Amino acid sequence: MSLKIGLLGLGTVGAGTVKVLRENTDDITSRAGRPIEIVRAAVRDPALPRDCDLSGIELDSDADALVADPRIDVVVELMGGIGRARELVLAALANGKSVVTANKALIAEHGKEIFECAQAHGQVVAFEAAVAGGIPIIKALREGLVGNRIDQIAGIINGTTNFILSRMEADGADFAEVLAEAQAKGYAEADPTFDVEGIDAGHKLAILATLAFDIPLATDQLHTIGVGKVSAEDISFARELGYRIKHLAVARRSEAGVELRVEPTLVPKNAFVAKVDGVMNGVSISGNAVGTAGFYGPGAGALATASAVVADIVDVALGHAIAPPAMAQEVSFVPQSAVV
Ligand code: NDP
Ligand code: HSE
Repeated sequence: MSLKIGLLGLGTVGAGTVKVLRENTDDITSRAGRPIEIVRAAVRDPALPRDCDLSGIELDSDADALVADPRIDVVVELMGGIGRARELVLAALANGKSVVTANKALIAEHGKEIFECAQAHGQVVAFEAAVAGGIPIIKALREGLVGNRIDQIAGIINGTTNFILSRMEADGADFAEVLAEAQAKGYAEADPTFDVEGIDAGHKLAILATLAFDIPLATDQLHTIGVGKVSAEDISFARELGYRIKHLAVARRSEAGVELRVEPTLVPKNAFVAKVDGVMNGVSISGNAVGTAGFYGPGAGALATASAVVADIVDVALGHAIAPPAMAQEVSFVPQSAVV
């Protein structure tokens, strides 16, 4: 029997997800063990043109009806925002549907409530696409590195700001113009200040730290500085000194406590993250067994993000157990005034 999907949102990632499911149908069906069928989608304005083939998909603006539709097994939330998305995700779970989401703001701000609701209704919530776009970093932490005590995660986890800094350095491009280009390419958040001010990277870092350290989602403990004040002169001086400026996210656990920070950082030009350019993300994870493992790939964009969304859909089709993050460990946080 096919797995029936209801899609909330057909923007950059939603349309990308339809494309990937259609383009790779045979491979996905064989790996999922059954067909995956998008039966219905809801958007704000059904009259707008869409960047994908909608044949066979019922389309309207009635998101409430979609999450209650008895035909649907999995609601894939790709609309963004935290108010309406939270309501719809909670309703979907209460209606006995699993949820796949790319919405890092929603998971970072309301993850505890959402995971508890999923458990109460025997459903799963999967969110691979919420962090680092097409890089399977959530699976790396939950599966491949699960035997480690993780001490540090560090890297570039916002594609838009890395695209901006890279273009400012390579072409002397103007900040506002490159931001507009990132928006046109579908990399930026609906409100791009989330990218520019480091809020988006902060949401992602909170999610990674929860998975790495088994701690509650700690968005209130983030030390966040955006890229808005980085000038062309700063970039050029850094280069003269053998450095590059990268917008780094770092989660570190030490005897002093857990430290979570997102900020423009000088990195030596030969460092791994210094070589991560454009919309690419690059993350290193240090564990007491593995040592340091590096992850590199596209951090935003329609198909790259859809790749992660579809991975979660296949997990649900296969009935893989996706446990809610363990958030039980009590930790102290390094006071933000002491974060250097
Ligand atoms: P878009 O703005 O491109 O698309 C959002 C879609 O949601 C649109 O189709 C919109 O409808 C629909 N929508 C918005 N509000 C409602 C509503 N109240 N009811 C019904 N439909 C609604 O966003 P993206 O695709 O870029 O992002 C979607 C999610 O994925 C966000 O959470 C984002 O953070 C996350 N994400 C995005 C990535 C990217 O590269 N863009 C990468 C990783 C994660 P309409 O088109 O009619 O306006
Ligand atoms: N706006 C985000 C970014 C999308 O640029 O990284 C991917 O999460």
